[in-house]
Amino acid sequence: MTTLHLVYLSLLPHKTTNQTYYKPCHLSSNRTHIRTPRAVNTPEMLQEVSKKPEIELEFIGPKAGPDGSYPVEKALVISGDKLLRSIMQDNKIELYAAYGKVMNCGGGGSCGTCIVEISDGKDLLNERTDTELRYFKKKPESWRLACQTIVGNKENSGKVVVQRLPQWKK
Ligand code: FES
Repeated sequence: MTTLHLVYLSLLPHKTTNQTYYKPCHLSSNRTHIRTPRAVNTPEMLQEVSKKPEIELEFIGPKAGPDGSYPVEKALVISGDKLLRSIMQDNKIELYAAYGKVMNCGGGGSCGTCIVEISDGKDLLNERTDTELRYFKKKPESWRLACQTIVGNKENSGKVVVQRLPQWKK
């Protein structure tokens, strides 16, 4: 029977100006040294992440405010990393109209309530999926289902402008 003596375990928070990361730790026995993977938010990892291509997003609201201007919300994401629906949810940007808020399919591509219009930057997204082609037979080419739309392809970068709730536009 093998006995492993845990001699040292360290996971000490290390403060920087605005972030906390954890120093690498290791376990050691009398025979073996086992290194754990680095924490995901060490300065080295953050530098690595920042080198990845990014897509800037602008979300235009469907209704003008009292001053006549349309609200704009922004997000910055790593190219090819996420679906548009997830990005909007992560950034608390409203995607659904009243019905979709309570009756959406959760991103499964079966309810058709997550419609957005891509006003600019369409080439930075994946092609329409078969699900979208089925839903949008007679709709504008710029319409997409947010749950089927991947933002970026991991190599491209640029800006995408999204009109929320295009079906509300007159
Ligand atoms: S969330 Fe149902 S089709 Fe996109």
